[in-house]
Amino acid sequence: MSQDLDTMIREMREGVPAGRVPARIFNDREVFERELTRVFGKAWCFLAHETEIPKPGDYVTRYIANNNIIVARDEKGEVHAHLNMCRHRGNMMCKSEMGNASHFRCSYHGWVYKNSGELIGVPYFNEAYDKKLDRKQFGLVKVRVDSYAGLIFGTLDPDAESLEDYLGGFQFYLDIYLKQGVNGSEVHGPPDHWVAETDWKICTENFSGDGYHTPVAHQFGFHLGYFPSSGSTHSKGWAVHIPGKGHGIGLGHTPGMQPFFGYPDDLVKQMHESLSPKQLEVFSKTRTAVGSVFPNLSFLIQPLSLEPGDPGVRFCTMRLYHPVGPGRMEMWSWCLVPKDASDEYKKAAYQAYTLAFGQAGTFEQDDFENWTKVTKMTGSTLARDVDFPYIQGLEREPLTDFPGPGYAVEPYVTEDNFRNLWATWARYMEGE
Ligand code: FES
Ligand SMILES: [Fe+2]
Repeated sequence: MSQDLDTMIREMREGVPAGRVPARIFNDREVFERELTRVFGKAWCFLAHETEIPKPGDYVTRYIANNNIIVARDEKGEVHAHLNMCRHRGNMMCKSEMGNASHFRCSYHGWVYKNSGELIGVPYFNEAYDKKLDRKQFGLVKVRVDSYAGLIFGTLDPDAESLEDYLGGFQFYLDIYLKQGVNGSEVHGPPDHWVAETDWKICTENFSGDGYHTPVAHQFGFHLGYFPSSGSTHSKGWAVHIPGKGHGIGLGHTPGMQPFFGYPDDLVKQMHESLSPKQLEVFSKTRTAVGSVFPNLSFLIQPLSLEPGDPGVRFCTMRLYHPVGPGRMEMWSWCLVPKDASDEYKKAAYQAYTLAFGQAGTFEQDDFENWTKVTKMTGSTLARDVDFPYIQGLEREPLTDFPGPGYAVEPYVTEDNFRNLWATWARYMEGE
């Protein structure tokens, strides 16, 4: 007989620091339902990259928990987020995932809203309402937004700490993805978007720095020579997390490789302007940077050879895991490129991204095959009382001379980041 959810989470608070995580958290209806309010109802959740909506009127629709949200840039250039629900009877206002519109008109009775959320048009205002409806009270429901280096986040919690405090120093590492050039990064085309029978948490964990799976799950890459000069050196590097915040990153090294290999010279020059000396110290040694912002946004930079054996090109992907049911999620995956990179580099980086990630990407398929099966198995009745070991690196001391913020350990293959992730998740689930 499995425990009730409260008991499981209470015991998890003690179990995680000792290196134990219950299998049940990866596929369970009660867990999913509680996550909607306790995790996604409280955290800062990623909505969109500013370069997805560069012009006045541009919008995308995304989710926080089960709330469909319109993220739009108004005529003055300001970004707004609103629940995509008409205030008359609750119809969905905007039915496309992206586009450009100065106004949204409801398809049911025709109420019209500005893209900044105000209700400005009510059919038969005089005849039906005798002019008595106060339009000011019936604007779209607003969601609090803030942004960092092009990333727009929203929170459903009016009392949430600032985004800056929420990220808690993880900005140092996010800059690796977001400030690859002097004018920052941009999305290269629309995202890949699909549904997977996978729990979102498995993806967040993997992208918090699971260097352990790479030589096995992505073995083909080593065998066929898609990883420039990798192999036995794979475990070298650092794992860093922000204690108490749930954000974590793995920074894999390839000793002996040229700093910044896989980037053209002009981009390396730009990074010397856009990144601080401490960031350069970390990043110049890094070949793979794989990190997650709690709860469900991840990034990866890695080099990939477009032809087996060639010197490789670095590409960057950003991904979002949106839970839609127990063990089920919608996934968005973008290619990020430095805004001021050459067209030639952008094309090569996009080619590398597409070969490896997105629905048809080879690495993506390796991962989802495993993640879907983890989800299936952990949702079974016998699995409900099973714990998994998270003891890698349990006795290791953090580095004292690491140039960046947070708790840093060596080598890269460890489970420190995951223990921090699950301890944070359990705290949210307890409602702290
Ligand atoms: S539901 Fe939108 S106008 Fe009636
Ligand atoms: Fe992977």
